[in-house]
This record gives sequence, structure tokens and C-alpha cells, in this order.
Amino acid sequence: MAQQDDIFKKLISHCKEYGFVFSSSEIYDGLGAVYDYGQNGVELKNNIKRYWWDSMTLLNENVVGIDSAIFMHPTIWKASGHVDAFNDPLIDNKDSKKRYRADVLIEDQMAKYDDKINKEVEKAAKRFGESFDEAMFRQTNPRILENQKKKEELHERFANALNDNDLVELKQIIVDYEIVCPISGTKNWTDVRQFNLMFATEMGSTADGATKIYLRPETAQGIFVNFLNVQKTGRMKLPFGIAQIGKAFRNEIVARQFIFRMREFEQMEMQFFVRPGEELAWFEKWKTIRIKWHQALGLGEKKYRFHDHDKLAHYANAATDIEFQMPFGFKEVEGIHSRTDFDLSSHEQFSGKKLRYFDPEMNESYVPYVVETSIGVDRMFLSILAGSYEEEKLENGETRVVLKLPPALAPVKLAVLPLVKKDGLPEKAQEIMNDLKFDFHCQYDEKDSIGKRYRRQDAIGTPYCITIDHDTLTDNCVTIRYRDTMLQERVPISELGKIITDKVSMKTLLKQITQ
Ligand code: GAP
Repeated sequence: MAQQDDIFKKLISHCKEYGFVFSSSEIYDGLGAVYDYGQNGVELKNNIKRYWWDSMTLLNENVVGIDSAIFMHPTIWKASGHVDAFNDPLIDNKDSKKRYRADVLIEDQMAKYDDKINKEVEKAAKRFGESFDEAMFRQTNPRILENQKKKEELHERFANALNDNDLVELKQIIVDYEIVCPISGTKNWTDVRQFNLMFATEMGSTADGATKIYLRPETAQGIFVNFLNVQKTGRMKLPFGIAQIGKAFRNEIVARQFIFRMREFEQMEMQFFVRPGEELAWFEKWKTIRIKWHQALGLGEKKYRFHDHDKLAHYANAATDIEFQMPFGFKEVEGIHSRTDFDLSSHEQFSGKKLRYFDPEMNESYVPYVVETSIGVDRMFLSILAGSYEEEKLENGETRVVLKLPPALAPVKLAVLPLVKKDGLPEKAQEIMNDLKFDFHCQYDEKDSIGKRYRRQDAIGTPYCITIDHDTLTDNCVTIRYRDTMLQERVPISELGKIITDKVSMKTLLKQITQ
């Protein structure tokens, strides 16, 4: 665990040092849980968004996009249930004066049982070597069975308390399991109470009678209220989806873990409208599509898992998360929810406008059901960085830090490096760059030794470096160096475009989802 903490800290400083993520308002000592993306971060983030957008709108003929406003009519949030039910259960430690989410404290306790189980398995695997039968060991080892039982007992109590909205029981679980504050180490807790996560502001001047409005806590509602606009103007037939990427805001109380939990973040959401009764089949289909999207990135299939919700949100009849193995454990990156007809029906009721679809095959009008896929751009960003960050020991004893980013997402695709700053090599390098820069994000670098320049590119995940040397001037070939293997080969300049395109194009990545 200590080692994982260490890696996470290194990742955070790497993000700062190489222009991926900065604290917001840093010269004023920052603003809690708000972050800015730097020159490399914004490129990576834009590539992630493009990968998602294209996978939705290019690969699915029946999914179209919109871009709705952040400010929306305040009644929308009443209709969606957010005014009344978008709460977190909070608890304070009286000694450290720190505030926690009661559910997160309990989930961390459950994760401790998993850690204990995994340690037993690891130890045994080392002891028994090749003959180790993990499945059998998990089924029979008394310590594993005991921890499994404890976890299941806790899980059942926790799920019941959440479903019943029983704040007294949540506190009692914390007391019974002797959960301590990570800062003070004491069990001196307040009662658990609910806290609404929406940010409110005012629109219009007070003299005119200002209206209280909210910064949207999810982008989904912008899609629901535009459902008929898109359906009618796009002549969309069910089933069809509407995708959107945009900012969302939540007044998160426990805002730790860097960009994992932010107060201002970005979501990529898609609402898929289906016939009533078909939603659970579509829920399964979208689960399969979405996990493939993640796995196509090549960060390792074992790093993802589904986690079904213990407590269904007020609008859902099925829900699961796609979790990624972050340095601080498996954590939610994406939610897939079967939202029933809750939102559209509720907006019908509150707005007094019909939000129905006339189904020509059934010859009737109805409120469609909805399956939603909802993913945080920032969490996706963190998962990709965490999955790509490696410290490699080299043969010469040095260590290189390399981001093995999926090539299509890398901020810079190609570094163009003249071996020396003279003899016409910089000019030749510029010529090559001027040709390739229309297709790829290239970076020119002539400072320091070639080894140092390679390291700089490794640190930001550039998949290719090309070196222009004296022979280039006569043979029109360059040395291309591959980030992951560090292998080098001599290739004609005329072939560079093709070599690079094959690996870094979004098309190559998108094709992997459909295989
Ligand atoms: N429309 C459904 C919805 O908003 P959610 O599970 O609350 O569902 C969806 O959020 C995704 O948004 C999460 O899986 C996560 O990736 C991202 N997300 C939610 N809160 C976040 C926060 N405070 N900071 C960063 N990302 C967040």
C-alpha cells in the first residue's frame, strides 16, 4: 500500500513537472479540488474526448451529439430529483475536524478485507510456485474464508442502510467496525447527516428579482430536455442515442485523490432511448460495448472490472460501474445506468409538455426508457496516466520514466531531433516537420544530448522520435526510435507518414473496438 501511495505521489508530481495538470489558481495557493490542464494535459484530454465522441457518433449510426448550456431552468433540477435527493451522507471527526463521506469510510473498510485476502493469495502463490491452485486456495483457506465472511456481513449491513437511507445505522456501522479517522486516529465521530452537492448561484440582478439557478451536476438533463428537439429535427427512430461532452459541478466534500474527485469536472454522457421493456437487454449491450472501448486502449484487461451498485439511484432499475485499478485501488471511472422512463416522465409532469415518441410499428405513443453511459473525462485521464506510467531500470543502471500512452491519445506523436545544431541538420529537421505537422502533433527539440531529449519525450509519452544526422542530407533517411522498446531503425523520410499513421491514428484505435 505504501508503495502504491508512493507511485500515486510520483504520478501527481509528474503531471505537474511535464505540463499535464496544475492546481487551479496555484499562485494563490490553489483552490480545493479544482485543477487546470497544461499544454500536454489538454492534448491528452482532447484526444480522450475525441476517442469517446467518435466511438459514439461515428460507430453508431443512431447516436448523434448535442452541446447544451450549463445554465438550465431551475425546475429541471426539481424534476430530476437532484434538489431533494442529490445528497452525500457526511460525518465529522471531532478531533481532527475533518469531514468524511460515511459511505466512503465503510467502503474503505470493505477494501481492507479484500487487501488481506489478496495478500494471503500472493504469499501462497510465492510459496507453492507453479503448482499453486488459486481457485482451490480461495475456497479452502480458513483466513480467506473468515475475511470473506466479514466482508459479506459488512456489505449486507451497508447496502441495507443505504437503501433505507438509514443515517443512524450508517453511523452505527462506523462505530461497530471501529473505523478510525485517518488523520487523528480516533473514533470520536459526529452523527451522519445529508448534504446537497449542487452549487447554486443567481441569474439576473436582485432589483429585477434574481432567480436561483444551479450549476449542472450532470450533463444528462440537458439531453433529456432536448429529447424531442433532436428526435423531431433529426427524424430519429427508436432506438437512438444522444451524446454530449461538457462540464459538470459538484460541491464534493471529500475532495481528495487529485483529479479523481473534483468540484468542476467534465463528463461524457450518452442517453440511449429505447422501447419500454427492452431497456435491460440494451443495458447489457452497452455494458459490452463500453468495456471493449476501455480495453481497446491496451492498458491490460485485468485492470478493469464491473461493480454493480449496492444502492440504485432514485431513477434506476439496473446500474453498474466500470472500475479501473488506480494506485489507490479499484475505483469507478464510468457508470452505466438503466434510468427507466423516470427523467422524461418527470419532465413531462413538471413542464406540462408531452415528451413522447410515436412508434409507427406499434402504432402508439409512449415515454421511452433510457440506458445511460456516463464517464468522467478527468477520471479517464487519471486512469490512462496511472496505467501508462512506468519506471524502467535500464541495462546501464539508469532509470527511465516513460508514459506508455496508447499512441492515438499521446499529446505529441512525433519528436523531430537534429543530432547537432549545425551543418544544415536543423533546417532539414524543420523541413520534415513542416511536411508532417499537418497530420500529427510534432515537437522540435535541438537542446541537450540526444539521450536527454529521448528521456523528455518518454516522460510525456511520445511514441516516436526521429533523429536527423549527417547521412540524412544525402540518403534522405532518418533514425526512428520507438518509445516502448527503445529500438531504432533507419527509414526513408518518404515512409514516415505511413509508419506513424498506422499506429497513432484514431481509426486504428476505433477499429479495435469493433473487432
Ligand atoms: N448522469 C449520471 C451521473 O452523473 P455519476 O456516477 O454521478 O452519474 C458519472 O457520474 C461519472 O462522472 C463517474 O463515473 C465519474 O467518472 C464522473 N464523476 C462524477 N463525480 C465526479 C467528480 N466529483 N470528479 C470527477 N469525476 C466525477
